[in-house]
Amino acid sequence: MCGIVGYLGQKESLPILVNGLRRLEYRGYDSAGVAILDKGIIKKVKSVGKIDNLAEKLSALNGCASGGKDNKMSGTAGIAHTRWATHGGVTEENAHPHTDCSGKIVLAHNGIIENYRELKIELGETHKYTSQTDSEVLAHLIEHYYKGDLRQAVQSALRRVRGTYGLVVMHADHPDMIIAARLGSPLVVGVGDGEFFIGSDATPMLAYTKKVVFLEDGEIAEITLAGMQTFNLRNQNVIKKVEEIDWDEAQAELQGFPHFMLKEIFDQPVVFKDAVRGRVDQEEGTAHLGGLNMSEAQMREINRVILIACGTASYAAMVGKYAFERLAGIPTEVDVGSEFRYRDPIVDNHTLVFAISQSGETADTLAAVREAKRKGAFVRGIVNVVGSTIARETDGGTYIHAGPELAVASSKAYINMVAVLLLYALQFGRSRRLSLATGQRILTALGEISEKMKIILAQSEKIKKLAEKYKNYQNFLYLGRGINYPVALEGSHKLKEISYIHSEAYPAGEMKHGVNALLAPDFPVIGIMTKNQLYEKMSSSIEEVRARKSPVILIVSEGDIKAQELADEIIYVPETMELLEPLLNIIPLQLFAYHTAVLLGRDVDRPRNLAKSVTVE
Ligand code: G6P
Repeated sequence: MCGIVGYLGQKESLPILVNGLRRLEYRGYDSAGVAILDKGIIKKVKSVGKIDNLAEKLSALNGCASGGKDNKMSGTAGIAHTRWATHGGVTEENAHPHTDCSGKIVLAHNGIIENYRELKIELGETHKYTSQTDSEVLAHLIEHYYKGDLRQAVQSALRRVRGTYGLVVMHADHPDMIIAARLGSPLVVGVGDGEFFIGSDATPMLAYTKKVVFLEDGEIAEITLAGMQTFNLRNQNVIKKVEEIDWDEAQAELQGFPHFMLKEIFDQPVVFKDAVRGRVDQEEGTAHLGGLNMSEAQMREINRVILIACGTASYAAMVGKYAFERLAGIPTEVDVGSEFRYRDPIVDNHTLVFAISQSGETADTLAAVREAKRKGAFVRGIVNVVGSTIARETDGGTYIHAGPELAVASSKAYINMVAVLLLYALQFGRSRRLSLATGQRILTALGEISEKMKIILAQSEKIKKLAEKYKNYQNFLYLGRGINYPVALEGSHKLKEISYIHSEAYPAGEMKHGVNALLAPDFPVIGIMTKNQLYEKMSSSIEEVRARKSPVILIVSEGDIKAQELADEIIYVPETMELLEPLLNIIPLQLFAYHTAVLLGRDVDRPRNLAKSVTVE
């Protein structure tokens, strides 16, 4: 995790760096720091806590409230970092950027230097350390190799390193230069007019440029005002392609919403359309996802699908399982990345593996991709962040087009993952057994989803009142059946992530085997009971819940008056085809989690102990 920002150009770097950190705060938020190269002198400021703390410290300094003229931070080259602690506690000393003994070399690092203890011993006692981090050792290692050429020193140091890094380095004697390198942790270079931006993702540079270069593993870029040159660790020149990204600065703004999570929940009707647009063929009742990169013959030979993901993406994957099995008749499994990679999975060249990830950087999902590829499966990505590692390491796939998602708790990415999985299932279904009429019905229903989402969003205030009433309960149980079981899981996941209330989710039919023991007046149950083939079954389960006096909140289809007899609270959602229900039914649960967390005073966009992109195992 951790976020890195860098700037080299003609502008004052500090505001660019601090704003960039704010964009990347989702990657880590326990401490932050910035270093600026000012007339041959490196100046650093660090702070524990959120970026706001750092910003306050910087404005006090630059406003001369403390320090003095010499301490002012000003300069056109700088690097910055927001940290999610791995090695070393959350202290100012451990915050990045780190310097070497001379104070001339400064760096910010994202990743883990696994052999840092060995390197430290090797460097000997002449080197003085000020932190407990693995990253600081890297600054001293570069110092050790530095003989006047910064890039070569970084290259020599990185050849000695075991582990992962996204790295930016400056040297006081090279005022117009930043060295950037990556192995296992993402790094993007934005190319402006006589200026360069560096970021762990593209969001810090959206306001300035849409032209970006994605560094690959093992690449090192020497960025100067004259241009950028890229090399591999063997010092061979690598020609990089400048790519154009289609994300908008405005998409990464709050746009009047109090939190990114709420904004992203309200973005859903729009971004959902972006996931579907141009990918469906109403006449043929099918979808065309070109990125699949498989011939019709190869598609027909697939006899197994495995969906790999973590967190929210894994619940989207579970919806995908229902869709693949029902529409395409292909046996489909879901596995979380951390399990798949270690269970010696059985895959072969008739297996299609989809890696599903918002960030495209989740370490466990990525490791699973590599394992599946090694074993000869077709591996494709369903990813949001353009140019991310999973997007590049898979042999094809589809971007979900949700735009930047900045709240740690995922919402719109979930919707678009489900949308793309449905499209894939439809495409496979139509190339096998699915009838034209069913294909067309699905597409017609998909076309109505966006408006139906808006009807649910309009109930946000009502759901807020519900949250007010229930916010002080210590436990919640979410129940669903069939395609709504993964929705229950995701709804429960949302609540625990951001409100810190314990909650769990069960397939309703399973309650009698254990969970019934928990039911009591202090244990509310949220049931998803929309009108589908399991409605009667679900309603019997809710009867059982009522008999045990748990308060009942139900998500039901519009017009289901009968359900009122079973519930203390009702939220109505528009009807749709059963397979598409997850696209709607999750929305009240997202809103319930959001409002509960806000009312409890939680930091909704940056919940404790979590990070949006988990790039460590
Ligand atoms: C983290 C985030 C979750 C996310 C999961 C998978 O745990 O906090 O919100 O669902 O990672 O992330 P990915 O980027 O692979 O979808």
